[in-house]
Amino acid sequence: MADFPDNGRKMTKDNGIPMATRRTSVHGEWSSRFAFILAATGSAVGLGNIWRFPYLTGENGGGAFVLVYMLCVLGIGVPIMMAEIMLGRRGRQSPINTMRTLAQEEGRSPSWQYLGWMGMTAGFLILSFYSVVAGWTLAYVFRTASGVFTGATADGVQSIFSSLIADPERLLAWHTFFMVMTTMVVSRGVKSGLEQAVRFLMPALFLLLLLMVGYAMNTGAYDQAIDYLFKPDFSKVTGQVVLSAMGQAFFSLSLGMGAIMIYGSYLSHTASITRMTFIIALMDTSVALLAGLAIFPLVFAYGLQPQGGPGLIFMTLPIAFGQMPGGAVFGSAFFLLLVFAAWTSSISLMEPIVTWLVENKRMTRVKASTLAGGAIWLFGIGSLLSFNLWSEYKLFNKTFFDLTDYVTSNVMLPLGGLLIAVFAVWRMSAESSRSELGLSDGFGYRVWRFLVRYLAPVAIILVLIQVTGILAWVTGRS
Ligand code: PHE
Repeated sequence: MADFPDNGRKMTKDNGIPMATRRTSVHGEWSSRFAFILAATGSAVGLGNIWRFPYLTGENGGGAFVLVYMLCVLGIGVPIMMAEIMLGRRGRQSPINTMRTLAQEEGRSPSWQYLGWMGMTAGFLILSFYSVVAGWTLAYVFRTASGVFTGATADGVQSIFSSLIADPERLLAWHTFFMVMTTMVVSRGVKSGLEQAVRFLMPALFLLLLLMVGYAMNTGAYDQAIDYLFKPDFSKVTGQVVLSAMGQAFFSLSLGMGAIMIYGSYLSHTASITRMTFIIALMDTSVALLAGLAIFPLVFAYGLQPQGGPGLIFMTLPIAFGQMPGGAVFGSAFFLLLVFAAWTSSISLMEPIVTWLVENKRMTRVKASTLAGGAIWLFGIGSLLSFNLWSEYKLFNKTFFDLTDYVTSNVMLPLGGLLIAVFAVWRMSAESSRSELGLSDGFGYRVWRFLVRYLAPVAIILVLIQVTGILAWVTGRS
């Protein structure tokens, strides 16, 4: 690495972990392991769980999608998350520089840095539309508080949502507001504010979701929802369903683009990566399932379409808020927590870009985040207009928003994950990975190595190969 030649390398023996190359991050370290878990969970839990998971489940036919999604989380997501944290902790820089340094250390091609470049691009693209949807959520904090949903019918709630997304100016105001919020935190350095925010946010979000599930259980079509979510109809498993489920596993766990890698780079050398990964994956999956359990009973009770698309939560939850006592307060608290959850995720989407600008372009954090935030904001306008002025402009039958979401989640993140897996076990020596993971050469390490060496790459390649087929199918149809 040219800019930080030694980057604080120390050759020490650290808590029984064999002697290995130790670096320290110029961007600092988490105050504790718990802080890392909080931040990584903050990154993972977000709109992906509460907005994206339910609507994709609805679009992909329910239980079969949920099952494939959970298999992807366990078989592909968990082992790759371990690999990604491990690479981050060993490299201790922005993903691009981490990959360059590690490749050099293992005697591999410097081209591995392009993995970091792809991740940075994916983060840029994801945040551009993520911020637009976070903007809808912000709008709903105030809308719900105003009491417009009190006693509203399903049709009424639907038309309120349609009128919001039809208005580009209002969307622009919210999108701008959210990007400013994100840029502000990133410019101050993610560690100080983030740890505090997530500590309070995660339990509160969990609690509110549980209450929503309780409400839906008592008033909605609960049995039907359980069947829909957990009784897979295997005739519904198509290539498209598997691809979306795998993409959702990557999206929801924040994998494949360097967010978890950069958070891993602030992690102390003594923490157990395996245990942390399981905790993060468990929390992330529970939040997604709880969101499904809160939303689908309402969908069926009110005769709505599960295939409602990206507006699904905005067209279902407000019905419940409109019916329950104190719903205006409760509902706006719910959307507020969702804004916080989206905020902690968007910070991690921007962090790899900002650290790279700071390391390589010698910018201050403030300048780097302002630049990145501004560019992402501008690009996001394309997604914002996809719901109104540009809704007719389509490529492969997809709007600007659909296409950005599709390419990042279903292609770039899995491809990033694939390359992380390949590097971690085919390009890095077993000794390096074992010492960095802090595992002995036992059963756990072997299972990990098998999954990352064979299962995950083969599964990802097989699913990705279908993309070409799907694109042909889509263009043939349109
Ligand atoms: N995991 C986040 C969510 O579920 C989104 C995200 C994707 C964040 C990729 C970082 C990287 O909302």
